[in-house]
Order: sequence, then structure tokens, then C-alpha cells
Amino acid sequence: MSAGQFGVEILSTGMAVPSTALTNADLEKMMDTSDEWIVQRTGVKTRYRSDPKLGEDVTSLCEAAVRQALDRAGVAARELDLLIVATCTPDMTCPSTASRVAGRIGAVPAGSFDLTAACSGFVYGLNVSDSLIRQGGYRTIALIGADSLTRVADYTNRKVSVLSGDGAGAAILRRTDDASRGCLFQSMYSDGTLWDYLYIPMREEHAPPDVDWNETKLEYLQMKGREVFKFAVTKFPEALEEALKKSGVAMDDVAMIIAHQSNARIIEATRKRLAMPEDRFYVNIDRYGNTSAGSVPICLHELRDAGRVRAGDVVAFVAMGGGMTWGTSIWRL
Ligand code: ACO
Repeated sequence: MSAGQFGVEILSTGMAVPSTALTNADLEKMMDTSDEWIVQRTGVKTRYRSDPKLGEDVTSLCEAAVRQALDRAGVAARELDLLIVATCTPDMTCPSTASRVAGRIGAVPAGSFDLTAACSGFVYGLNVSDSLIRQGGYRTIALIGADSLTRVADYTNRKVSVLSGDGAGAAILRRTDDASRGCLFQSMYSDGTLWDYLYIPMREEHAPPDVDWNETKLEYLQMKGREVFKFAVTKFPEALEEALKKSGVAMDDVAMIIAHQSNARIIEATRKRLAMPEDRFYVNIDRYGNTSAGSVPICLHELRDAGRVRAGDVVAFVAMGGGMTWGTSIWRL
């Protein structure tokens, strides 16, 4: 069959967070900060932190999220054709997180790979999965977005670490004969000249020339907070406006905008610029912090569970992250 005959259905979703909450009061004991500052500047009240002693890592979060999604869809792991994990904090670089998750749940011989686009990862993954399914070669894909930003958070750096949270969300995507369902428009962009806005140096040579280097920065997320903020408040509305224009979807017809939970102020600025009512612009950063690639699928899972998005609704996904990367995915569920 040729492309254009298929649609894509999100059969189900799942999510997982670690068992330990890390509240702003906990952070007050670890660094010179306050609940008031964190809430005002970021909107975060609490987040979850993986504990390796409890066996919690990115792989285990992905496994829990995808098991829940498979259970809810009534789909067996061996029915999967592909399992994709969007993450920038894999437990190992080889094998991929996706391969380990596929092995744990028995998704053999499904193809598996990790997709790295930092916080944009799940939105990139929606675009890639939709295209692969519509092209006809794959019927059922498990797409997971997961990160452990607390593992790469330097708790002596109060500017970055207060945002970080851990979490995973998963979606089971399946081919349908209803071609009106699935992605209506997709965009994926990056500007690699801005790579040093957000990066995790693995060696001293990775430090940009203008950075006052010391080895305590190794393997911890470095961020130019103000630059990232300005980038996000520009790119989120720009990308959404372009996506709606090109997809021919009117703003009033969008049931929900699901934006990467980077910072509540970024989301609010975007909502105001687009003149969207609060109830159509989801925010849960207060409860999870910034979970990077985990944030968009966790939002989707909560919204589906609450019955706030349903089959037939148009949902606009938007994200930006390290790279710098950004992108959109407009779906008819
Ligand atoms: N507690 C108390 N005070 C603090 C804290 C803190 N946690 N952090 C910074 N401050 C102080 C600063 O020292 C500064 O004080 P000074 O004026 O005396 O020097 C003051 O607060 C303001 O600092 P700024 O850095 O200007 O604060 P800003 O309002 O820019 O907020 C923040 C910082 C929250 C990081 C913001 O820039 C931001 O949200 N940026 C975008 C973050 C983001 O989305 N990152 C991407 C996610 S990660 C990923 O993609 C993998």
C-alpha cells in the first residue's frame, strides 16, 4: 500500500516517576535557596529523584511506563515492531536504553534505538513514529520519553538544579485505516551553533572557551539559563504559529497544547502570546519539575486519564531543548 492510506492512533499511554520526592523544602536544606524563589521563577514545587540503591534509573522508569501503556492497550510486547526511547541521559551509551527495555519486556525481535534531542526528544519521536507507520513498514511502535535530570544535576549550582526532575512517559502507537488520525503537521529544527546553551561535558575539552572551567562540572548539566529562557519564549510561540498555519488548524480548534515543561514562566509567556485560555494549555511542572524528554508524554498521560483529551481531538505538541533543538507535532487523536 502507498503512503497516505494509513492513519496513526495513540492506543494508550503510561508513566512512571521514582519513589522519592524532592521538595523545595528539601532543596532549602541542600543549598542557599527558598521555596518562594523557586516557585516564583520556575513554578516547581516538587520533583522526583531516582535512587540507584532502589534499582531506579532511566531504564527502570522506561520499563514501568511502557508496561503500563502495553497493559492498558491490551497489546503484548511481542506485537511491537519498534521500541524507541527519547532520552539524553541514557544509563549506558551501548547498548541503547531502548534495547535494554525491549529485552526486559520481551519485545523481541522489535527494532530498538535511542533518539537524542534532549527535551524535544518525545516530540521528535512522535514525528518519526508517525512517518514510519504511515510509510507502511511498521504497525505498532512503543515510544517512550524519559530522563533523569537529577542524575546530571549539580546540587552546588542552584540556578540549574532546582528545575531538574526524573520521569518517563510512554505511548503505544498503532496503524489505523482511518487516515484522518495521527500527525497532521510536523516540524523538527535545530541550531547547533547554540550548543553551549545546554550541555553535559564528558571531558575538559568539551568546555566552551568562554567558560571558567573546573573539573566539578564534569558530567553535570551546564546551562545558560537566561539565553535558554529567551530562546524558549521566542521559539515556542513561533513554532506553534507556524504549525497551525501550515496544518490549516485554527487556534480555536485545538483542544489542548502540550508544551515541554521547561519553566512555568516560559509556558505562561507562550500561552499569553497565543491568547489561549489557561484550561487549554496544560501545566504540571509544579509536581514533576523539568523531566526533559519525559515531560510531554507525562502530560499526555495525565490529560488522557482525566478525560481532558479524547479520540478526535486536535492536540498540539511543542518542545525545545539542548542542541538547541525544537519542534512541533499537531495530532488528531
Ligand atoms: N535560589 C535562590 N536564588 C537564586 C537561585 C535559586 N535557586 N538561582 C539563582 N538565584 C539568584 C541569582 O544568583 C541571581 O541573584 P543576583 O541577581 O543577586 O545575581 C538572581 O537569583 C536571578 O538569577 P537569574 O539567573 O537571572 O534568574 P532567572 O530569573 O533567569 O531564573 C532560571 C533562572 C530559572 C534558570 C531561568 O533562567 C530559566 O528557567 N531558564 C530556562 C531553563 C530551561 O528551560 N532549561 C532547559 C531545561 S534542561 C534541558 O533541556 C535538558
